Amino acid sequence: MSEILNVNNLTMRFDKKTVFKDLNFKLEEGSMTALLGPNGTGKTTLINILMKMFPPTAGSFKFAADVRLGYVPQFRNLDAEYPLSIAAFTGLNAPLIKSKKVKDIINKQLKETNLYDIRNTRMGEASGGQKQRAYLAQALLDNPNVIILDEATASLDPMAKEELMQLIEHLNEKHNITVLFVTHDVPLATKYMQNYLYLNHQQIAQGRMADFKEEYE
Ligand SMILES: Nc1ncnc2c1ncn2[C@@H]1O[C@H](COP(=O)(O)OP(=O)(O)OP(=O)(O)O)[C@@H](O)[C@H]1O
Ligand SMILES: [Mg+2]
Repeated sequence: MSEILNVNNLTMRFDKKTVFKDLNFKLEEGSMTALLGPNGTGKTTLINILMKMFPPTAGSFKFAADVRLGYVPQFRNLDAEYPLSIAAFTGLNAPLIKSKKVKDIINKQLKETNLYDIRNTRMGEASGGQKQRAYLAQALLDNPNVIILDEATASLDPMAKEELMQLIEHLNEKHNITVLFVTHDVPLATKYMQNYLYLNHQQIAQGRMADFKEEYE
């Protein structure tokens, strides 16, 4: 297997506060990794840096040359009046002019995420799980080979959680998409992820999810 991400002595400080220091880890292509750690230890900060939203204070990281990143942000409840349909919301990440080819790509991702039959439902009326799948469908339009999800299941009920995780598992197995999944849900991570990264006390530990020690949390 080849390396898809290499993180080298990554350090982040906000003013005087050091969030993390000298992080070193690698992700293999096609792997599924849970990013775990207590609140406020810098998981979202690390992801924001990897998504190039802002630069680190020191250190570096390198994705494989052919990387295409997909990002599913933390669940935000859209207003009940939010006017766009699931299909239109998903299409926000596509070219403005919806040619036949673009429409076909949108429909393909709506089918992939089990949203096609309810594509005309307004996002404001959709359930939490359906909204989260629409965010995923939107991210899939770019045909990513890496997907980063920040607490995507945090506010979902157990069934919606399983449904989203099975979809992520399918994307990994059938499309070889590398997954980095931020969560506080250790049982869910143990069920679906192979590896963990554990961020705490400004340091990161990496290992196999089956060996993850609950006392970390
Ligand atoms: N833009 C910013 N300016 C200053 N401090 C920040 C900024 N963003 C994050 N921080 C601080 O960095 C630390 C890490 O925050 P971050 O949101 O990355 O944690 P997290 O691990 O994602 O937490 P949670 O599990 O609660 O989502 C926190 O102390 C936070 O207050
Ligand atoms: Mg966070």
